[in-house]
Amino acid sequence: MKMKRRWAKGGQVLTAAAFIGVVATTPAKAAQTDFIAMPGVFMNITFGERWNFGFGLDLHATFVFKTSEDDKFATSGVGLYAQATWLIASNTARYSAGLHGGYRPQDNPLERDFEVGWVWQGAVCDQPAGHGIQIGFSTFVLFGDVALRLTLIDGGDGWMPEGHLALGTRRQSRLGLPRWEGSEGRPQRDGQTALMGRVFVRGCRLKRRDLSKATTRAAIGVQWAEAARAEAASIPAFVALARDLQTAQAPADLVRRALVAVADEVRHAQVSAKIARRYLGRPLAVEVPNLHPATSDETSVHLLSRLAVESWRDGCLGEGIEAVRAAERGKITKSRYVRASLQTIAREEATHAELAWDVLIWATQKGGTTALDAVAEAVAESAARAGVAPVGGYRVPGDLDGTAKARIAEAVRVEAVGRWRRTLGTG
Ligand SMILES: [Fe+2]
Ligand SMILES: [Fe+2]
Repeated sequence: MKMKRRWAKGGQVLTAAAFIGVVATTPAKAAQTDFIAMPGVFMNITFGERWNFGFGLDLHATFVFKTSEDDKFATSGVGLYAQATWLIASNTARYSAGLHGGYRPQDNPLERDFEVGWVWQGAVCDQPAGHGIQIGFSTFVLFGDVALRLTLIDGGDGWMPEGHLALGTRRQSRLGLPRWEGSEGRPQRDGQTALMGRVFVRGCRLKRRDLSKATTRAAIGVQWAEAARAEAASIPAFVALARDLQTAQAPADLVRRALVAVADEVRHAQVSAKIARRYLGRPLAVEVPNLHPATSDETSVHLLSRLAVESWRDGCLGEGIEAVRAAERGKITKSRYVRASLQTIAREEATHAELAWDVLIWATQKGGTTALDAVAEAVAESAARAGVAPVGGYRVPGDLDGTAKARIAEAVRVEAVGRWRRTLGTG
């Protein structure tokens, strides 16, 4: 009787602790929510007073929160679970259902998921069938699922504690994948807004949230589809650059190089769409945004300042970062075709970054103090954003993780600031 009361009390404490764990995993700032129902299979080893072996099925239904950039979790979620385990040695079943919740921290592929719920187990040896509580902790990496569970079952003669180790697999994490932190390439801008086209996969518009429901292979496909979208958005951006350079009476060589970049971006978009199609296994259409009309009442100084600032932000930094990231991705990808494509993209993005440097220098020389002040402001702004941690501790195979992306962005920014200071003769 004493034993029964002690376990009953222990059970309440454990239940409360597990509930706190579930509640604590709910992020304060949820930027986006998805619903995922993810089944899994596992083999189960029971240890404690009696050893047992079995197989089971489970289902997790989860509301997943994709967090904003400055949150500590890459992804987190809460929901319901249901489990059925067949215990081979005693020819009986164990059923459990309850709440689960967990998170995956930034820059760590191991997710942490806690569960607490009701359990019923059939008769095992001299222990009669009974109800009880179950608490558990599980983690998931790639396709592997490892869970450690504790059950307290009341067989009418006190609470029987048992431990369970479950090794299983599921198609994808029950917490989904974090938000795709893709590049914007060099899109046209209307003020601060990037003008992007749409991507259609077999007639349906691709949404970024599709990534969280995708298999690993499809996730790679969605990333490449997003890359194709960014590359396609760069096509009219370079047409606009060539037009604006012409208007500002820039040297013919700069205009010519902007037009060469148009052709490069067409190829980048085609190659990215081709790779996306391979991984998605479905037809894909990428929209090229319309050319944004030239600003008619823009003064010459204004135009030169805008060209200088855009070159700094989207070219020296944006395409400079893309060049290094593409080169680094090329080193880790297994596919020979993808590697060769990334090497070409890296080389050509580097030439676009060099074009941006030449436009920046020409536009600030011609635009004088106004253009120089505008660039100084943009340089200071990029330094202020340097500490923002990226989303994406989880790495889609063949892609860089959030830390690597942030490291590259920071290295390119520091180098670019140094180069700009040397150009000005102040560094
Ligand atoms: Fe590109
Ligand atoms: Fe580019």
